[in-house]
Amino acid sequence: MQKKKLYIGTNTKMYKTIAQTLPFLSRLGSLTSDIDRNRCEIFVIPSYTSLESVKSIAKGGKITLGAQNMCWEDEGQFTGEISPLMLKEVGAEIVELGHSERRHVLHEDDIMINKKIHAALRHEFTPLLCVGEKEEQKRYKINKEIIRMQLKIGLWNVTPQQARHIWIAYEPVWAIGENGKPATKEYADEIHGVIKETLVELFGKEIGTAIPILYGGSVNAENACELIKMPNIDGLFIGRSAWNADNFSRIIHHVLNAYT
Ligand code: PGA
Repeated sequence: MQKKKLYIGTNTKMYKTIAQTLPFLSRLGSLTSDIDRNRCEIFVIPSYTSLESVKSIAKGGKITLGAQNMCWEDEGQFTGEISPLMLKEVGAEIVELGHSERRHVLHEDDIMINKKIHAALRHEFTPLLCVGEKEEQKRYKINKEIIRMQLKIGLWNVTPQQARHIWIAYEPVWAIGENGKPATKEYADEIHGVIKETLVELFGKEIGTAIPILYGGSVNAENACELIKMPNIDGLFIGRSAWNADNFSRIIHHVLNAYT
């Protein structure tokens, strides 16, 4: 069986100034220069303000850059928002949409996220749609319903052709951040299976099964390898454990070794 391509990346959230992002990306690029990018795509989603300054370093290090959020309109009266045109201008290729903190701290809903997905597709970004249930939703056993709802509304009116460009991240809210508890590999794989089924329902078998599904939420050097070996997990979306370039590169190398 042909080995799946892996996707491993980080979102630096509201951490790292330009001065901190520059050395991080340059070290990460040199530490991962041995990795074949056809086998593993490495991406970093830094602060908006860093994007322009790190563009050439990221290119040299074959690291794909993304933005943490984006408005659905190209321009207008949206104080504090960032436009797709502005993100294109500074070299972002991926746009992360619907991260747990955007949903639960900044109150974004699925309808708003769907508008952003369409804007991202219109501007030829790779939308990275994040989904995940809250602790109490898991307790009430509506976790699968929540995930299906987030996907079905978030991807409303997306055509199969457009869906070829989308990536999904499954990040259970209870697994993210300092107080988070990572999902077990079995649980993560089961939910990834539900995501895959839903994508097949929406876009058909060929396209639905080709959409990469990444796991995120307290991924670290200890659990990364066992997660990646699961059949429905195509990549890892890492927060804290990836914010030091040496640690991040170590995780990437371990994962690739475990996977061969
Ligand atoms: P974490 O963050 O790895 O620090 O839990 C994950 C995320 O929010 O994407």
